[in-house]
Amino acid sequence: RLSLCPEHFIEFIEKRFKKTIHKVKALREVNKVVVAVSGGKDSVTLLHLMHKVSKELGFKIIGLTIDLGIGEYSIKSVNKAIKNYEMLGTSYEIVDLKKEYGFSIDDIARYRKRAGIRKPICSVCGTIKRYIMNKLALDIGADAIVTGHNLDDIVYYIFSTLYTGRIKDLAKISIYTPSKYKLVAKVKPLAYISEKETLLYVLLRRLPFNYGVCPYAKLRTFHEQIRKTSNMLEEKIPGLKITYAKMFLEKINPIIYSHYVREEKLKECKVCGMPTTSEICGFCKLRSAMGKVLKND
Ligand code: AMP
Ligand code: FES
Ligand code: ZN
Repeated sequence: RLSLCPEHFIEFIEKRFKKTIHKVKALREVNKVVVAVSGGKDSVTLLHLMHKVSKELGFKIIGLTIDLGIGEYSIKSVNKAIKNYEMLGTSYEIVDLKKEYGFSIDDIARYRKRAGIRKPICSVCGTIKRYIMNKLALDIGADAIVTGHNLDDIVYYIFSTLYTGRIKDLAKISIYTPSKYKLVAKVKPLAYISEKETLLYVLLRRLPFNYGVCPYAKLRTFHEQIRKTSNMLEEKIPGLKITYAKMFLEKINPIIYSHYVREEKLKECKVCGMPTTSEICGFCKLRSAMGKVLKND
């Protein structure tokens, strides 16, 4: 409900960010953190805020950008991410999905059915991103991975998992996921910053970012409706989204977590050695299915 000038708005966002970072006690003991940067407004905000905090708390950050191979959208996104890394002098890695693993997200969109993949594109893309983030973090010995999931993402996750009754997934929505057997800890420090605020932040600070939207995201109509509805409610009841997320993350989640989350036994994937609950991890299954289809094309 505050009316702020540009300078104080930037200060306000930085303060809120730091408050969330300080809540995650584990971040006080890290040496190296991977910052996942897509090149969009949220992760560009995240990179700049993490850069500042890393200097104050004395840890190193390494940017990671995955070139997903989504036509023009990926070209622009990767370019913007690199511009930000260079602006800050941050070290970074670009992982090209097609060059590294033989298939792109555009290939998935085209051949998914033929490859027998039933999941929606965005969900397959999520599996790929999580795999690559974790692999890089493990390879370089990072203590945590931070992503730019914002308040609107959190509100949407809570709503959609409640709606579909996926209680175990609901229990897993949190700002901090500790590390366990070859799975590096994950942090979402923008959980209390909305997408409207990250947009304002990058605009006011004149940071380069890709304002385009992933072409496959347009297929998510349910997501779009929830987004519009929560923004409409927020207009009528200012502060609703942050209160909803805070109450869930800080009061409700710890209770359902202790009831519903049982430690899953993780083991090494027989193909790549990464952590999985089955013999072969989801990423390797996907890679093999896509490899067969692309070979026959
Ligand atoms: P999304 O899953 O697209 O909503 O993105 C959530 C977060 O995941 C972003 O804010 C980034 O931190 C990270 N991310 C998404 N896409 C990429 C990418 N291509 N490369 C690196 N990180 C990404
Ligand atoms: Fe993965 Fe759009 S970014 S499908
Ligand atoms: Zn594997």
